[in-house]
Amino acid sequence: MKKFLFGSAALILVMAALFFGNYYWQCSRLPQYMKNPLNTEKEVGRQMHRISVKKETFISVYYPKFFHANIDSTIHAAIDDLVDEFKHEKGRLYIDYSSYDLMENYCSVLLTIDQNGVVTHKAWVFDLEEDEIITMHDIFSADVLSKLEALIEYEEKGDQEAVSSLDDLKNYYLSNQELILFFEHAEEKRVAISLALLKPWIQPSFSYLLIEDSNVRIIDPTKPMIALTYDDGPHPEVTERILNVLKENNSAATFFVLGSRIASHHALIERMIKEGSEIGNHTFGHQDMRKLDKRQLNDQIGAWQDALKEVDATYQMKLVRPTYGATNDFVVKNTSYPLILWSIDTMDWSKKDCDYVVEKVLKEVKDGSVILMHDMYDSTAEATEILVPELIKRGYQCVTISELFNAKGIELEAGHIYHEAN
Ligand code: NI
Repeated sequence: MKKFLFGSAALILVMAALFFGNYYWQCSRLPQYMKNPLNTEKEVGRQMHRISVKKETFISVYYPKFFHANIDSTIHAAIDDLVDEFKHEKGRLYIDYSSYDLMENYCSVLLTIDQNGVVTHKAWVFDLEEDEIITMHDIFSADVLSKLEALIEYEEKGDQEAVSSLDDLKNYYLSNQELILFFEHAEEKRVAISLALLKPWIQPSFSYLLIEDSNVRIIDPTKPMIALTYDDGPHPEVTERILNVLKENNSAATFFVLGSRIASHHALIERMIKEGSEIGNHTFGHQDMRKLDKRQLNDQIGAWQDALKEVDATYQMKLVRPTYGATNDFVVKNTSYPLILWSIDTMDWSKKDCDYVVEKVLKEVKDGSVILMHDMYDSTAEATEILVPELIKRGYQCVTISELFNAKGIELEAGHIYHEAN
């Protein structure tokens, strides 16, 4: 009996040694990058590693195990398919994963599959308590489809296949308040959609997925939007009033401040950045850019940036608004930033008349408008207090210049002049 026990123990030890020996021997032959998982988020599941090394075929797979039969077999089956398909090919198959804890027993799993440098993804949302896959039907009501189509079409600029049913959308996951969809084309395409845009269609049992955070502005690229811009500030009272109304309406604007005014208005500049507004360069001392030489022009832009560094060393200024809206070949050639003009001039600086400003904007505004104002006059603050809620009521989103052009798919280029986003 003793002999038998000893024999069994020895056999188990030998088998374990062979198993681990084989694992480490194979592992040692893997290309270096395949020996470790990527530095991705792995919030749930136990990390497992599977390898196979044969002559010219190297396979290394990291995947999560949840100890729930259905979920584990779903992941396993997907990996088995990939490995079986690859095992007779030459080269490298490297699979790693991210997993996200979605609270209340739900989680997302994303496999990143690298087959000889061609990267694709496979994703799921699981219910850990019920040991089930969560489908798009579970999360959304069926009439979300037309909204999804509009958002996907916008993202893909029409370059996508039609989605005829929610059942077509199987390869998806949720993370950080976003729905991420994968489409198989010649090349894989990834579309990320903010969950907040889909709020009206989220089933009550999944509404907890939406973290209501009033500080987060969500821009719907399929809806109209405009950019309010303010030059020559900041001004202690006027700018403050404008920032207040923007904040109350979950909106943002672009402030083309003067470099010479930054040092004395640190707090206002910090507030603009914190509340999601954008800051652009309007030169240091409001010099007519056409009348400068190259060195003076660089000094005007550079001194502005030095002043801003004292407030926020990490802020990336991306825009220049030429003083007086005045440009010529010299200015265009020598400014290494996009030059932002406007499509609606409110004349606020000359008329100082709130009603005139409001009327002019509401008469001329359209999707993509860039509106010029100056945060220097009480009448401009007053007009802004009327305009922001009114524009929202009329279906416009008040966004920054960068957000506006980005949403319209227009890349802002250095030394180009822009009037509106159309
Ligand atoms: Ni100006």
